[in-house]
Amino acid sequence: MRHPVVMGNWKLNGSKEMVSNLLKGLDAALKGVEGVDVAVAPPVMYLDLAEQLIGKAENKIILGAQNVDVNAKGAFTGDISPEMLKDFGASHIIIGHSERRDYHSESDEFVAKKFAFLKEQGLTPVLCIGESEAQNEAGETVAVCARQIDAVIKTQGVEALNGAIIAYEPIWAIGTGKAATAEDAQRIHAAIRAHIAEQSEEVAKNVVIQYGGSVKPENAAAYFAQPDIDGALVGGAALDAESFAAIAKAA
Ligand code: G3P
Repeated sequence: MRHPVVMGNWKLNGSKEMVSNLLKGLDAALKGVEGVDVAVAPPVMYLDLAEQLIGKAENKIILGAQNVDVNAKGAFTGDISPEMLKDFGASHIIIGHSERRDYHSESDEFVAKKFAFLKEQGLTPVLCIGESEAQNEAGETVAVCARQIDAVIKTQGVEALNGAIIAYEPIWAIGTGKAATAEDAQRIHAAIRAHIAEQSEEVAKNVVIQYGGSVKPENAAAYFAQPDIDGALVGGAALDAESFAAIAKAA
């Protein structure tokens, strides 16, 4: 039985004050919200503070991060290892976000390497996939998503997806307010699941597939009513405690 996961990706937003207010506000707003795993991914600078605040929270909030590098230790200036993320209590790590693929030229293979590295440390990869507007218009959505997932399957086998999360985020829907309709998102989620099922029906049945892209309290329930949409990866609306809690409640 899949359990919905609603995760907030705070992207490059935060200050000590903001992290503190947002997490305290979220804890209060989550009162009575059940049946959904709620996670937040603040900028890595604020993991320490977030870990402390989450430790004092009354409601369960899972700590995550927005990225990881592929080296364990040593002469890799600026890198962050999975061990370091784990040290601060972060368990759900976003990889392959389109902003990293685009602005940092991260390839499918590189993202697959990160996936393997996280799994080795017992962390949960949140593997972002999704097509650009041009790919969408060319009818390439499912092929693009399949290719991005196959980079992991080819190197680590389909079983590697066990316990991982896939976040389907059409790039054209990110931060644009132009969300995919719940029906369109369901169609793509079902196709992604069917693609995985070609390798293993069991893995396909159990893998959590989130939708991401302009999810708001107003449209969240329609997504979560779809059989193959198991939660959301939320950007903008995750920066407001009430809105994010409302999305979690809808799940
Ligand atoms: O990772 C979440 C994200 O890219 C979606 O952002 O602002 O459209 O909810 P947003």
